[in-house]
Amino acid sequence: MKSVKDYIISIPDFPSKGIIFRDVTSVLESPEGYALAIDELNKLLDGVDYDLIAGTESRGFIFGAPLAYMNKKGFIPVRKKGKLPRETVEMSYDLEYGSATIEIHKDAIKPGDKVVLVDDLIATGGTIQAAAKLVEELGGEVVKMIFLIELTNLGGRKLLEGYDVASVVQYEGE
Ligand code: PRP
Ligand code: MG
Repeated sequence: MKSVKDYIISIPDFPSKGIIFRDVTSVLESPEGYALAIDELNKLLDGVDYDLIAGTESRGFIFGAPLAYMNKKGFIPVRKKGKLPRETVEMSYDLEYGSATIEIHKDAIKPGDKVVLVDDLIATGGTIQAAAKLVEELGGEVVKMIFLIELTNLGGRKLLEGYDVASVVQYEGE
């Protein structure tokens, strides 16, 4: 039986020299791979009590939305700045070069809502930490963070200390 890792293609020297890019498009393109990825992510939610699933643009949408659908939960898109039409809260975070800003609708989360954060991959943890801060700013509680892929040597777990973090597939190298 194939595992999720069997569907992930690793591309050396992308986007720059020395980086091994772990590509999820090869998972998505396979009906078996995509279904397995969603099923394995869903297993990480076993026993978790939550109200909403939030996914970070853009790859977090691909994995978060099916999970919300199959568990009959609402889906909150955490979007890159400037895309959401109503009142938002926003958070900036550092990237390797420069910074980025994400936002969510102010009325997407009510105080006390229990929220699961989903993304395809955790590297430094900066993206998901910013998403968590947005949830918390609105009075929500981040009860779990789940990822298809975890790059374990980039310090994400340390940055996210105190959160319940889980991943389906782990890689040590970049
Ligand atoms: C990638 C990936 C995660 C994030 C992980 O997204 O999809 O969201 O980086 O990195 P971090 O843990 O160091 O924050 P990217 O910003 O490349 O955008 P995309 O999802 O739109 O491709
Ligand atoms: Mg992303």
